[in-house]
Amino acid sequence: MLFVEICVGSSCHLKGAPRIVELLQDRIEKNKLENEIVLTGAFCSGRCNRVGVTITVGEEVYTGITPEGLGEFWEKTIVPALEKAREV
Ligand code: FES
Repeated sequence: MLFVEICVGSSCHLKGAPRIVELLQDRIEKNKLENEIVLTGAFCSGRCNRVGVTITVGEEVYTGITPEGLGEFWEKTIVPALEKAREV
């Protein structure tokens, strides 16, 4: 099980957090990963920045994720983290 926590604090909200939640839900459904990835929201993770949204995948915190960059984030970060979580 992989926990993916999206910051929905005000800075991240303005940078597109709601859209990112939608995009992630969509990918999870399309890939039938509902039983493997748990999406949660968090209030300000204390890592606000001008670039994008803060997302915690498992234990790792990533900052500056944008809706446009989500495809790459999915492939390079979430998919490998999921594969690792499956091995445990
Ligand atoms: S609002 Fe997301 S890190 Fe602060």
